[in-house]
Amino acid sequence: MLAPDIASPLSSGDRIDRLIAEHRAGHGLARPFYFDPEIFERDMTRVFFRHWHCLAHESVIPNPNDFELFRLGREQVILTRAGDGSVHAMLNVCRHRGAEVCTKAKGNAKAFVCPYHAWTYGNDGTLKAARLMPKNFRREDHGLRKLHVRVVEGLVFISFAEQPLDFSEVERLLHATCGQYGWGAAKVAHRQSYPLEANWKLAVENYVECYHCGPAHPEYSQTHALEQPLHMIEALNAAMEERTCALGIAVGSGNHWQNSAEGREAIHAFRYALYDGVKTGSQDGQPLSTLMGRFPDFDGGVTSIHLGGTSFLVCYADHGMIYRFVPMTVDTCGMELIWLVDSRAEEGRDYDLETLTWLWKVTTDEDKAIIEHTARGVVSRFFVPGPIAPMESNELRYIQWYLDEISRS
Ligand code: FES
Ligand SMILES: [Fe+2]
Repeated sequence: MLAPDIASPLSSGDRIDRLIAEHRAGHGLARPFYFDPEIFERDMTRVFFRHWHCLAHESVIPNPNDFELFRLGREQVILTRAGDGSVHAMLNVCRHRGAEVCTKAKGNAKAFVCPYHAWTYGNDGTLKAARLMPKNFRREDHGLRKLHVRVVEGLVFISFAEQPLDFSEVERLLHATCGQYGWGAAKVAHRQSYPLEANWKLAVENYVECYHCGPAHPEYSQTHALEQPLHMIEALNAAMEERTCALGIAVGSGNHWQNSAEGREAIHAFRYALYDGVKTGSQDGQPLSTLMGRFPDFDGGVTSIHLGGTSFLVCYADHGMIYRFVPMTVDTCGMELIWLVDSRAEEGRDYDLETLTWLWKVTTDEDKAIIEHTARGVVSRFFVPGPIAPMESNELRYIQWYLDEISRS
């Protein structure tokens, strides 16, 4: 809802521009960014529909004609694998009078028949049949609205933009990171969605900083050195890089974090150590599944990837995590966690699902609680954003990136 104290005679665009101009460097976002519906609309237009988003791992649609439906705010996207194996993404909106054409969450279908007047679409989005339409009706002009799709190392990315941001730097860095971890040959072991009573930016801002890890995530902090400032873990990180190198693996890293002024998507991949003796992100530091990709042994490291506004990846030697953030309404959003293992790993033999998922479930339950605590706090009309701590440098960067993005039409 629009809080009465932000009502103003200025037009909504001017009001938002003024808030951006008044942003105090080195501080968090002002409170209207978390509950003003007009800012949410601008977030959607200038951030969400401009950037690329990781939607899934392609192993969720392994067979020809498989499909899955995804909800992203008010949009619904049908992800399909056509008969020839190609991957497509399209809006679930009939080109006749707008009904949903796909009415199931998941399945296998060569065509989608609209439940209203039976226009029939192939699973690549082309309109195959439209009953009783005049002779001059052009089916080829009325396919489902397609989204841009890239599949990189098994990850499916979509962009709603007509002219999508250049993805080449992202692709190169994903090959150098997820490629080494064998994500192209991975499968989904588990997925879990977390609805949040919070504006989407509170969820993402929480994800990108680890200042809160020490106090909020005792389990994560037992094994992951990132709970400490980077300058305090230099020796641990150097030892980890030596171990990775000794295994004959060159996991890339790189910082191409940038706003979209040059028409390119942003990506930052960085590595950090687990504490001595810890092999992977598990409760006791011991392996969770079979080694992935090029890893002949555990290197005791983690590769973390921030990609665009909503997609985050975590690579361990024996499993991977995809974190998807989905804005829903101005004060609700969703997070989906996806656990990846090697495609040959068998549940029960090579991994135990409960053990595999323990750490990030515990951590995400804690995150949900602190994000919702924050959502309830920032609506107070007396809240004034405080200074961002040095350990929250990625948070500061994200805020600046976000403000840059919503400043540009
Ligand atoms: S709305 Fe889909 S066929 Fe009419
Ligand atoms: Fe967290």
